[in-house]
Amino acid sequence: MTSQNIYILGIESSCDDTAASVIHNGSILSNVVANQKIHEEYGGVVPELASRAHQQNIVPVVHQALEKAGITKEQLNAIAFTRGPGLMGSLLVGTSFAKSFAYGLNIPLIDVNHMQAHILAHFIDEDGFEKPEFPFLAMTISGGHTQIVKVNNYFDMDVIGETIDDAVGEAYDKSGKILGLGYPAGPEIDKRAQLGNPKAFKFTKPKVDGLDFSFSGLKTAILYFIQRESMKNPDFIKENLNDICASIQYTIIGILIDKLKVATKQTGINQIAIGGGVSANSGIRKALKDGEQKFGWKTYVPKFEFTTDNAAMIAIVGYLKYLEEDFAEQDITASARLKI
Ligand code: KG4
Ligand code: ZN
Repeated sequence: MTSQNIYILGIESSCDDTAASVIHNGSILSNVVANQKIHEEYGGVVPELASRAHQQNIVPVVHQALEKAGITKEQLNAIAFTRGPGLMGSLLVGTSFAKSFAYGLNIPLIDVNHMQAHILAHFIDEDGFEKPEFPFLAMTISGGHTQIVKVNNYFDMDVIGETIDDAVGEAYDKSGKILGLGYPAGPEIDKRAQLGNPKAFKFTKPKVDGLDFSFSGLKTAILYFIQRESMKNPDFIKENLNDICASIQYTIIGILIDKLKVATKQTGINQIAIGGGVSANSGIRKALKDGEQKFGWKTYVPKFEFTTDNAAMIAIVGYLKYLEEDFAEQDITASARLKI
């Protein structure tokens, strides 16, 4: 795309992961993530603790990202950071750090929308990963968001459906809590689901019009079901855990695929890219592959390390914006409810 040598540092701190990444033109040189283990004890992210942990992590994480990339800070052309959406206290740490670093180095500052970044992660140069062609549909599924987005171009996107209550990752995590699993529960439910019978128990899918989603009813249905069965047999969860996980996963994946069927029909677009933490899920990956055969879809699934929150996706957006000279001013502020 360019013969220039562009190095951009990406910084992500919207929730509970402190991350930094260096991109050279379109290729990732380093992708460092410090997970905050502290939240596991609480069964969810505690905003005040997240913000404090970001403050402790940010300098070593950035240092490591530069070191792994094998460059000095003086070689950087710009600093990209997550402006929102996310937790205000967490966003402020990355935003303030990025602003002062860019100011000190006298290089451009680039603001990035976290939800756009989950989608644009598909444009990182990676062997064996094809980039989607415009227009395509993106389904972003994470612990904080569930959206279907029509992507017309890098920075021209329309949200055509989203959750009216819980995000899909929350449905996984809250179900996990009911089952006594650790936080976040998505990966363990996924692992157990592959060992269980998806049709062992039936949960009703919510009825939501159009392309919007709802997951809070499902969580309640699971809670009542578990309470009822555990009264009859106190060992119900223990004896049926894999089947319960498989049935929950089957229901959730069914909800997602149903909406994608409506979205492809409605827009006439058959290219689907997924992003966000839940796109690591084996069930959704398989269902999308099946969709290629069954419905003629062309699907794009990101590399694992670019699914959950990471800074490589911030760095690629930084690079794309750098090429357009779309820079932020020093008076820019974090925005917890930033929209696409
Ligand atoms: O994108 P992400 O790291 O953070 C947010 O922006 O929310 O997503 C985290 C979410 C958690 O809810 C976690 O349980 C879920 O992604 N998750 C999974 C899997 N891996 C992570 N859910 C289902 N199956 C997985 N394999
Ligand atoms: Zn995210």
